[in-house]
Amino acid sequence: MKVKIDPERCQGHGRCYDLAPALFAEDDEGYGQVVGGGAVPEGEERTARLAVANCPERAIEIL
Ligand code: F3S
Repeated sequence: MKVKIDPERCQGHGRCYDLAPALFAEDDEGYGQVVGGGAVPEGEERTARLAVANCPERAIEIL
Protein backbone atom coordinates (compact mmCIF):
# COMPACT_ATOMS: atom_id res chain seq x y z
CA MET A 1 0.00 0.00 0.00
CA LYS A 2 1.12 3.54 -0.77
CA VAL A 3 -0.29 6.96 0.02
CA LYS A 4 -0.08 10.11 -2.02
CA ILE A 5 -1.04 13.73 -1.38
CA ASP A 6 -2.31 15.87 -4.22
CA PRO A 7 -0.48 19.17 -3.63
CA GLU A 8 -3.10 21.04 -5.66
CA ARG A 9 -5.79 20.00 -3.20
CA CYS A 10 -3.89 20.14 0.11
CA GLN A 11 -4.73 23.29 2.06
CA GLY A 12 -2.62 22.46 5.12
CA HIS A 13 -5.34 21.30 7.49
CA GLY A 14 -2.78 19.05 9.15
CA ARG A 15 -5.06 16.19 10.08
CA CYS A 16 -2.94 13.71 8.14
CA TYR A 17 0.26 14.32 10.10
CA ASP A 18 -1.63 14.63 13.40
CA LEU A 19 -3.45 11.32 12.93
CA ALA A 20 -0.75 9.41 11.06
CA PRO A 21 2.68 10.84 11.90
CA ALA A 22 4.36 7.65 10.68
CA LEU A 23 3.03 8.35 7.20
CA PHE A 24 2.85 12.12 6.86
CA ALA A 25 4.85 15.14 7.91
CA GLU A 26 4.37 18.85 7.57
CA ASP A 27 6.46 20.94 5.24
CA ASP A 28 7.79 24.41 6.11
CA GLU A 29 4.44 25.99 5.30
CA GLY A 30 2.26 23.45 7.10
CA TYR A 31 1.24 21.49 4.05
CA GLY A 32 1.23 17.73 4.27
CA GLN A 33 3.83 15.55 2.62
CA VAL A 34 4.32 11.80 2.61
CA VAL A 35 7.11 10.18 4.58
CA GLY A 36 9.43 7.65 2.96
CA GLY A 37 8.06 8.07 -0.53
CA GLY A 38 4.53 7.24 0.63
CA ALA A 39 5.14 3.57 1.39
CA VAL A 40 2.77 2.40 4.16
CA PRO A 41 4.58 0.10 6.60
CA GLU A 42 2.84 -3.05 7.80
CA GLY A 43 0.40 -2.26 10.58
CA GLU A 44 -0.20 1.31 9.39
CA GLU A 45 -2.93 0.50 6.87
CA ARG A 46 -5.74 1.53 9.22
CA THR A 47 -4.05 4.82 10.02
CA ALA A 48 -3.64 5.46 6.31
CA ARG A 49 -7.37 5.00 5.77
CA LEU A 50 -8.10 7.19 8.79
CA ALA A 51 -6.03 9.99 7.27
CA VAL A 52 -7.80 9.64 3.93
CA ALA A 53 -11.19 9.84 5.65
CA ASN A 54 -10.19 12.89 7.70
CA CYS A 55 -8.66 15.13 5.06
CA PRO A 56 -11.29 17.82 4.45
CA GLU A 57 -9.91 18.49 0.98
CA ARG A 58 -9.87 14.82 -0.05
CA ALA A 59 -6.26 15.35 -1.01
CA ILE A 60 -4.98 11.95 0.11
CA GLU A 61 -5.17 8.94 -2.11
CA ILE A 62 -4.33 5.30 -1.44
CA LEU A 63 -2.55 3.59 -4.32
FE1 F3S B 1 -3.32 18.64 3.50
FE2 F3S B 1 -5.37 17.16 3.98
FE3 F3S B 1 -3.18 16.79 5.29
S1 F3S B 1 -5.43 19.31 3.50
S2 F3S B 1 -2.21 18.77 5.41
S3 F3S B 1 -3.47 16.50 3.12
S4 F3S B 1 -5.22 16.69 6.13
